[in-house]
Amino acid sequence: MKLLNIVGARPNFMKIAPIIHALNNYNRSANRPIEHLLVHTGQHYDDKMSRLFFDDLNIPKPDIDLEVGSGSHAEQTAEIMKRFEKICLKECPTHILVVGDVNSTIACALTASKLGIKIVHVEAGLRSFDRTMPEEINRILTDAISDYLFITEKSAEENLLSEGISKEKIFFVGNVMIDTLLSHKERAKDSKILNQLGLKNGSCASDYCVLTLHRPSNVDEKKNFENILYALNEISRRLPIIFPVHPRTRKKIEDFGFAKYFSQKPKVTEQGIYSIEPLGYLDFLSLMSEAKIVLTDSGGIQEETTILGVPCITLRNNTERPVTVTDGTNIIAGTEKENIIEKSLSVLNSSKKDISKTPPFWDGKASKRIVDALATL
Ligand code: UD1
Repeated sequence: MKLLNIVGARPNFMKIAPIIHALNNYNRSANRPIEHLLVHTGQHYDDKMSRLFFDDLNIPKPDIDLEVGSGSHAEQTAEIMKRFEKICLKECPTHILVVGDVNSTIACALTASKLGIKIVHVEAGLRSFDRTMPEEINRILTDAISDYLFITEKSAEENLLSEGISKEKIFFVGNVMIDTLLSHKERAKDSKILNQLGLKNGSCASDYCVLTLHRPSNVDEKKNFENILYALNEISRRLPIIFPVHPRTRKKIEDFGFAKYFSQKPKVTEQGIYSIEPLGYLDFLSLMSEAKIVLTDSGGIQEETTILGVPCITLRNNTERPVTVTDGTNIIAGTEKENIIEKSLSVLNSSKKDISKTPPFWDGKASKRIVDALATL
């Protein structure tokens, strides 16, 4: 087997890291080692969206960097395909491994499929049933052409079977993102981010919320974004909100003149919404771990908060990760301001202790299960 592991955008890095470490572990004692190379498409390229994660997660430097950068969906996908095809023709892999649902995932899968290279998809089968989400299109198409589909939760199997994918291709292995979280939780305690933000003095952290927001449906339309900001403003009268801002959101804040919604103070001294630069993995994990609630439109954060036992208010109308609601701390609040305020305040007012369970196989061993399965191919 010769395997090309693909990464492109920020959420891919924490998924690929444990797989690379598990492959290297396996190879140390294997009779038939699995040859593997790391390809970075360059979809995300800012230091804070990419390099920081390689450092924090100890991911080796990519063997190949396609350096595609930003563009419209068609431009970005097409450019990755053109450049990745050349790599496939040169390296002749037997398999490629893609993770998640970003444009790099579908672009590389589609290229490999046309060249007869087998496709391994990690985090297959998740469905929001909302085709206005670019990720939903990427998920459906990638799964349709994948040969080995590794899933994180049971709902994914039902989704794949109902789309006509045969059971033999589906492997329930758990969640590689949680492998990364569990193996970095202790190291994250050394992060100084809470002190830097003025949220910690000595060993005691003050109360705060964390926010992430970058979905096109939430930030690209002025009315939708302002509606959410209105709700956040109300919540921030109760507790300060710390908001590491994604570059696309930063641009929209400038375009729409929304700076007025944010506190201009560099340290958290009172209530308000504090926008900060995107954080690396360990700093963000530290920030999330001590938060009262996390408000987000991200997918992965819904999973991480479930394991951390921190309530998650999801600023979307659906989730492709239903196990985070049934077994975790996730509450789907939608995007209407009244609902966001009501759901958030009700969690903040509640004295109930978190009673979340751990979803099956979210135990830190998913990447080992994946490599064990790959070794038998
Ligand atoms: C992508 C993924 C999304 C994921 C998110 C995590 C797709 C369709 N979407 O969305 O699923 O949740 O990554 O961050 O693949 N930009 C920079 N620097 C960077 C990267 C992006 O400034 O390093 C800016 C550019 O203006 C770019 C915009 O952000 O046009 C959007 O980047 P893009 O990769 O197209 O999508 P994301 O919104 O990041």
